[in-house]
Parts: sequence; structure tokens; C-alpha cells
Amino acid sequence: MRIAMIGTGYVGLVTGACLADFGHVVTCVDKDPAKIEGLLAGRLPIYEPGLDQLVSRNVREERLFFTTELAPAVREANVVFLAVGTPSRRGDGHADLSYVYGAVREIAAAAEGFTVVVTKSTVPVGTGDEVERLILEVRPDADISVVSNPEFLREGAAIEDFKRPDRIVVGTSEERARAVMAEVYRPLHLNQGPLLFTDRRTSEMIKYAANAFLATKITFINEIADLCEKAGANVQEVARGIGLDNRIGSKFLHAGPGYGGSCFPKDTLALLRTGQEHGTPLRIIEAVVGVNDARKTSMARKVIAALDGNIAGKTVAMLGLTFKPNTDDMRESPSIPIVFSLLDKGARVRAYDPQGMEEARKVLTDVDYRASAYDCLDGADIAVIVTEWDEFRALDLERVKSLLKQPVIVDLRNIYRLDDMARHGFRYESIGRAG
Ligand code: UGA
Repeated sequence: MRIAMIGTGYVGLVTGACLADFGHVVTCVDKDPAKIEGLLAGRLPIYEPGLDQLVSRNVREERLFFTTELAPAVREANVVFLAVGTPSRRGDGHADLSYVYGAVREIAAAAEGFTVVVTKSTVPVGTGDEVERLILEVRPDADISVVSNPEFLREGAAIEDFKRPDRIVVGTSEERARAVMAEVYRPLHLNQGPLLFTDRRTSEMIKYAANAFLATKITFINEIADLCEKAGANVQEVARGIGLDNRIGSKFLHAGPGYGGSCFPKDTLALLRTGQEHGTPLRIIEAVVGVNDARKTSMARKVIAALDGNIAGKTVAMLGLTFKPNTDDMRESPSIPIVFSLLDKGARVRAYDPQGMEEARKVLTDVDYRASAYDCLDGADIAVIVTEWDEFRALDLERVKSLLKQPVIVDLRNIYRLDDMARHGFRYESIGRAG
């Protein structure tokens, strides 16, 4: 298959490289010349484990190409993937589809022969219909089929997720498009990766429902964690105890500082708007969004309480800034409101993150960035674990204790054992674990 991937953001780049690795010939297109120049020179715009090697191997073997020219790439393609951004629109929180529609007009003008246009970007229900209408407006004679194929990759584990998906969802009612999509994903299908065919609107809805459900699951366990703290129970054991019930499942039950990232916050808001538009308010999702927002400031209060309310003039060492480990992504990271609240209360904030500091500097300017975890802890009044990077799990706790002015740790990710921390003599506050 010849594939054009429009947009070399996170989804486009990972999907393009993985599809090339399946043996397809993939041309990744982006309007940003600096990004394409970087990619041609072997520089990736994002950090994702394993992506560097995957891209360079497929470029070397001449299956993966990069260009700013959309038209020639689309002309040669059997399948055109739309993987441009759908950020939250300022003001109403709905998904901003201007990048999608802009690309669609260009695709419609350039396509030749039967072409399947696949929406990978997360788009509200009904967008596929609008894309089809736009295409026919630009090119009434076009032989194009519009398919929805949402992505379920997690940052930090994207390649693994791509190669071993729980399911691939394809929304189309056209036989020809269905055959093309089955060919695109043939290697996964052969590995028993379930290919779920459905109609386009249902496919679009599956994506939002999945993210909203996961956001709900996290928010649920976060509230249970708050109750555990007050009622003297342990949320990790509660999560295990309920997660072993297959109807509940053990994943996405880690209590923490609230979900962040480029997907859950944006997609829950967009789903709320869709609900309102259809006169069907989604009250559970509304509550999830509100509870999650409030949680980020309550995390700052937890840090302040660990210093008995005396935060002014104190130095806080933040370990981890990204919204989760194995990424450099700072979008909607809980660390951002936590840092702002602490600064607002007169604290001095230092930070160390293994990958995220370059991105963090763009949003958190009044922070003293340090080159290592130990350097960050040296002389600080309190340590706060915000992101569960593996290197923080392996810290030498005796050294940590000797570096801190007072042995106080607030762990928003529950990465240490309560008994270990007690043995080392820390004042240790974690999430949903009394003790
Ligand atoms: C999420 C979904 O998991 C992917 O399936 C989906 O494809 C993606 O959004 C998307 O729509 O593009 P991602 O945002 O990369 O992926 O990250 P997750 O691993 O889902 O984590 C999201 C947030 O939830 C993070 O802030 C994480 O710390 C938090 N989280 C996750 C918890 O607090 N507890 C958990 O148990 C799991």
C-alpha cells in the first residue's frame, strides 16, 4: 500500500513509522518546514521510546519519507491518513477542526483514483460526514471513501500499543474501503489483533467513550483515595481488591494527582459539548472534569500541609514534571497548577525531570531547573514526587534524607512502600494510604 500521513505530530509520526515497518510505503507530510527538515536530518520532534530507531530504519530501507508537499504524496497514495491536531477551541472547549478541514480540502483537490481518507485525529461524532461533504464540494467527481479509525496509543508506550493493540476500530459502511483497511492492518490481523468494523459515527463515538471512561475510572479511584486517607484504608489494596474482579479490571486504577496530557482533558470537554449539542447532558463526565480540575489545587494544599502550613520562603524540590513518565509532554500536566499554587503561596520551586525540562521551561518560568534528582533535593525543605519516572523509584533513600533539610516527602504517585519510608525516618505523605 502507498500511504500518505498528513500531520507529523505524535500520532502521525508513530503511526507512519509503524505502518512503514509493516512494509507499506509511507510519506509523512507536514506544513512546518522546520519539522520536516529536522526529520530529514534524523531529528525527532518528540521523545518516544524506540521511535528513533524505528524511523531511521524505515528511512534507510526507503519505506518512510518526509515532505512538506501534500499534493504529490496524496496523488500517489491509496490511503491518506489525517493525523492533524484537534485542540480544544478557546472559549467553548469543543474540538477545533480547522486543521482537519484545511487538510481535507487539499486532499480532495489532489487525490487520484480510488482513495481512502482515514480520520485518525480524534474528531466529534459526525465529522466524517462533514469531511465527505467537503470533499464532494471541492471535487464532485472524486472517488474517495471517508473512514474513521481512531487511535488508542498511549504516549510512552505507543509503539508497543501499535504492534499489540487490544483492538483496531474501523468505521465504514463501504466494502471497498473495508478491504483496503484490512490490507493496511493485515500484519496485526494475522497476529489475532481484533479488527472491529462498525459504522463511522459509532467509531467516532467509541474513541470519546473510551477516553471518557478511562478518565472516569481514574477520577473514581482518586476520590476513593481521598476517603481512604480519612478513613484509614489503603487505596492501592482497594484498587487491587476491586481490580481482580474481571468486570472492573485492574488497569487505570492508580490514584494520583489527577489525569493530564493531551487527550483526556481535551476529549472529555469535547464530549461534554457534543452532549450539550444533542440535548443530552453527560452529568457523570461533567463531574469527572470538575473533580479532576479541583484535584490539582488540592495536591498543592497537600504539599503545604506536609510543611505544617509554613510554605512561604521554603524550597520545594519537584521530582518529575511531565504528565506521565517516558514522555517529554507537559500538556495539561498536574505539575503546572501545583507549581503555580506553590509559587503563589511564596515557596521557591526547584525541579528535575528526566525528559521534560525543555518543554517545562516554556510554561513554568519561575522554576530553578536542576540537572539531577540529587542536585534538586540538595538543601530543599521538602521533596514532591509528581511523575513516577523509574529513576525516582531507585533513589538512594539514605542519600535523599541526608540532602534534604528536613526528611519530608510528598509522593503523589505512591512509588515507595510505607514501611520503607518509616524505616528510613521520613515524614511521608502519599495518596490514599493512611500511615
Ligand atoms: C490516553 C489513552 O490511554 C490512550 O488510549 C489514547 O489513545 C490517548 O489518550 C489519546 O487519546 O490519544 P495518554 O494521554 O498518552 O493516553 O496517557 P495515559 O497513560 O492514558 O495517561 C493519561 C493520564 O492519566 C496521565 O496523567 C496519567 O498519569 C493518568 N493516570 C493514568 C492515572 O492517574 N492513573 C492511572 O491509573 C492511569
